[in-house]
Amino acid sequence: MSAAERGEILRASLFHTPRNPFLDGQGLESHHDGGLLLRSGKIVACGDYGAIQAAHPNVPVGDLRGGFLLPGLIDTHMHFPQLSVLGGLGHELLDWLEHIALPEEARMADEAYAGQTAQGFVRALAEHGTTTALVFGAHFASATASLFEAATASGLRIVSGMVLSDRRLRPELHQSPEAAYGDSTSLIRRFHGQERLLYAVTPRFALSTSEAMLEVCQTLLRENPSVRFQTHLNENRREISEVARLFPWASDYLNVYERFELTGSRSVMAHNVHPSESELQRLAASGTSISHCPGSNAMLGSGIFPLRRHIAAGVKCALGTDVGAGTGFGMLKEGLQAYLVQRLAVNGTLLTPAHLLYLATRAGAVVLGMENEIGDFGPGKSADLVYLRPPQGSALAAVVAQAENMNRILAALFTLAGSESVREVRVEGAVVFRAPEA
Ligand code: GUN
Ligand code: ZN
Repeated sequence: MSAAERGEILRASLFHTPRNPFLDGQGLESHHDGGLLLRSGKIVACGDYGAIQAAHPNVPVGDLRGGFLLPGLIDTHMHFPQLSVLGGLGHELLDWLEHIALPEEARMADEAYAGQTAQGFVRALAEHGTTTALVFGAHFASATASLFEAATASGLRIVSGMVLSDRRLRPELHQSPEAAYGDSTSLIRRFHGQERLLYAVTPRFALSTSEAMLEVCQTLLRENPSVRFQTHLNENRREISEVARLFPWASDYLNVYERFELTGSRSVMAHNVHPSESELQRLAASGTSISHCPGSNAMLGSGIFPLRRHIAAGVKCALGTDVGAGTGFGMLKEGLQAYLVQRLAVNGTLLTPAHLLYLATRAGAVVLGMENEIGDFGPGKSADLVYLRPPQGSALAAVVAQAENMNRILAALFTLAGSESVREVRVEGAVVFRAPEA
């Protein structure tokens, strides 16, 4: 019997949210002396170490006490070509695109540079404990292929697609609808469903896509029923008024996408900071998801996300770091930023550690249609996990040592655990990142 078939029990404190804490007060499950039994890349059992060990006495134990196991983090919005523009302070969306993001995105025409960026991007994901990400590719097919290749080599789960635009950006980032159709179709054939990759049809936003381009997206979704869809929605007030001017027939921003059948359960739209009540109702009714990017919304001054209204309307929401308009790759930090912004918002939601963990894990699986595979430690799920251990002498170590309960520890992880606390990351039980021994 191979080691993978015999299995392994990981012994550590652990947390997961098998149920939605926005709907169920008992969403969080935690075990202070926890055991996670893995076999052949899957989770077989999760519970108190004593019980798991007694039921499986012959399975070897990995002693990880002193640290914390969480399901692999799931980031539902980011842009790989923007790795090197993180930290551009002082701009609003349209000005940031023009002066910061798009000049860098144009450099992705250089295949060698795009390949290097893609490798840096997937490395940063793994180092931060993110095991699954929905990612905007580049405006170039070759650069988008580089991301899929780097993703395959990394072992991470990546959902991505070539970014489509035919107006309003810079000419070198535009493609014709015909070329967009041809390139997207070849990329779908080459990468969709291979290893841990999925394809997402990716028009940048309504502002940079003609009706002919949106029709191409509609055709691609019709022809490829299992691909996903991603774009931006209602991020910035100036963007919204420009969209209204460009699509005078549309009742609102969402209606532009609806007209081309781009809403639905496989669609994830980033931001939605300024929705109308009607848009929220229609997002919920169609099963369209929103990626909430609190760091980016603050960086670009886009506004305060109306989380309470989304939840009340029944819109599915998950978290996205929005690299590079956001503040980096850390999904725990992104959870903290959601908490902070909601804390200060008029009519904000008081988020608990359980909400934050759900938003950073299982909610992402739900919006990607992968909740039967990943997102928590339920039996039969893939063994995607992150192992956090506070560095010796750190503030996090001090808080954890004094914490009176597991909720307090989880809150401290969201507040203080950066990539320096990420010790090991696995996808389907296989190590995709291990920190060098300190
Ligand atoms: N809207 C269109 N493109 C972008 C982008 O790259 N980042 C953000 N935050 N919003 C966008
Ligand atoms: Zn974005």
